[in-house]
Amino acid sequence: MLKVKIASLWVLLPSLFLICLEVKGLGVNWGTMATHKMDPKTVVQMLKDNGINKVKLFDAEQSTMSALAGTGIEVMIAIPNDQLADMNDYGRAKKFVQRNITRFNFNGGVDIRYVAVGNEPFLKSYNGSFSKTTFPALQNIQNAINEAGLGDKVKATVPSNADVYGSPTDNPVPSAGRFRPDINDQMVQMVQFLAQNNAPFTVNIYPFLSLYGNDNFPIDFAFFDGAPQPVVDNGIQYTNVFDANYDTLVSALKAAGFPNMPIIVGEVGWPTDGDKNANINMAYRFYNGLLPRLASNKGTPLRPGAIEVYLFGLIDEDAKSIAPGNFERHWGIFRYDGKPKFAMDLSGRGQNSFPVAAQNVQYQEKRWCEFNPDAKDLSKLGENIDYACTFADCTPLGYGCSCNGLDANANASYAFNAYYQVQNQGEMACGFQGLARVTTRNISTETCSFNIQIVGTYSSASRASVYLFVYLIIFAVFSL
Ligand SMILES: *[C@@H]1O[C@H](CO)[C@@H](O)[C@H](O)[C@H]1NC(C)=O
Ligand SMILES: *[C@@H]1O[C@H](CO)[C@@H](O)[C@H](O)[C@H]1NC(C)=O
Ligand SMILES: *[C@@H]1O[C@H](CO)[C@@H](O)[C@H](O)[C@H]1NC(C)=O
Ligand SMILES: *[C@@H]1O[C@H](CO)[C@@H](O)[C@H](O)[C@H]1NC(C)=O
Repeated sequence: MLKVKIASLWVLLPSLFLICLEVKGLGVNWGTMATHKMDPKTVVQMLKDNGINKVKLFDAEQSTMSALAGTGIEVMIAIPNDQLADMNDYGRAKKFVQRNITRFNFNGGVDIRYVAVGNEPFLKSYNGSFSKTTFPALQNIQNAINEAGLGDKVKATVPSNADVYGSPTDNPVPSAGRFRPDINDQMVQMVQFLAQNNAPFTVNIYPFLSLYGNDNFPIDFAFFDGAPQPVVDNGIQYTNVFDANYDTLVSALKAAGFPNMPIIVGEVGWPTDGDKNANINMAYRFYNGLLPRLASNKGTPLRPGAIEVYLFGLIDEDAKSIAPGNFERHWGIFRYDGKPKFAMDLSGRGQNSFPVAAQNVQYQEKRWCEFNPDAKDLSKLGENIDYACTFADCTPLGYGCSCNGLDANANASYAFNAYYQVQNQGEMACGFQGLARVTTRNISTETCSFNIQIVGTYSSASRASVYLFVYLIIFAVFSL
């Protein structure tokens, strides 16, 4: 009897061990600023296929929510910055909660856990545009959630950029971390409110941006495989900027009187194009330091234990603003079409493998638009390239990027093709005043991919259901 029990224990133990190693808190950010969005159902299947069971959104868009319904995936929905002012009205906040939270709160609905109130609203470059409306919006949303009886389950939080606690020069060591003086009062008020509601502080941490903003930044410090000159703080050695940044926040929270406030890392990741430091090799190095670290549940020197983290991001977004930099459109661990870019250890089991690609993605025809070498008058070439790049993504052409080595003609082809694909290969979209022509030859090079866009299944599917609906009504009327 006993022998049997012990034997079965031996079978059980390794699997228990594996379960413990899983990256429990691992989520992803699902942004949708793309010219061609994948069908939300396809994306949700891709999440499931990769064992990802937490997702952070940037809105509460209906088709996304329907796709997530009944999956058991935990969801953080969001209120964009431009709707914060609206939420200063309690009636509006209540409507938001009714419409976008309570409505999904049933068995088989959407498992909403958090509401992101704004996205980095205190960012210095916003010049305080949202600093007056953020806190009242946070209060109204959480109060409305509480009034709806969902306060124990759904928490409102404000994803903040690490610049709320200053630059590394303001806080030379993590233990010196303090909130930025110009917003200190708001931050303290906000943290008090979060604490009253057992809600977490959410911070976005970007080691890539530390490097992007500063050519003297010690590059190894951005990764997790050791830095030759660690930052030493009260005898603690910091060998990566992720830990240092996180502990700067821990110190700022402690100074504000909340040393134990839970922290969520709302965004962390590495882009693969659009800058000399944004490429697949560096992203691979970053994720393959980060993910095993998270799986170990080691935490940081000041906060040992598991960290809840949302990777940024899931899919490339070719229509994102590039005001912060050309890399903005290349944060995906998957390409625009749901193909994985590199191997990583999403399960945290110590096995690097390519994530599972999105299934049944439909592409447009195998047709490209290229520079027409027979074109006589090249005087308007620059103008036409600029036009194409205004409406399509040409960021891979920049210095140090995947298509930087192209010659002038291929450069033009890249721009023309990007535009042609965004325009769904429309007949008029490969004209460019006689400078371009359509080809069925794949003009991609070894490093530079001339993409064929996907078919935006979601918009056509919803149109089809509208037709079906109209048809059914007509049918019903006639059969009366
Ligand atoms: C619900 O969320 C959607 C999508 O983010 C938003 O457009 C809409 O205004 C919200 N509804 C209400 C009543 O606030
Ligand atoms: C913030 O101020 C700077 C300098 O005055 C200006 O260039 C920028 O456009 C402003 N940004 C916003 C979001 O208002
Ligand atoms: C190609 O385009 C990029 C970005 O517009 C530009 O920096 C580069 O100089 C161009 N290369 C050639 C050979 O024209
Ligand atoms: C075009 O060629 C590139 C590079 O060989 C390849 O990765 C890509 O899949 C090809 N595209 C199509 C649509 O066949």
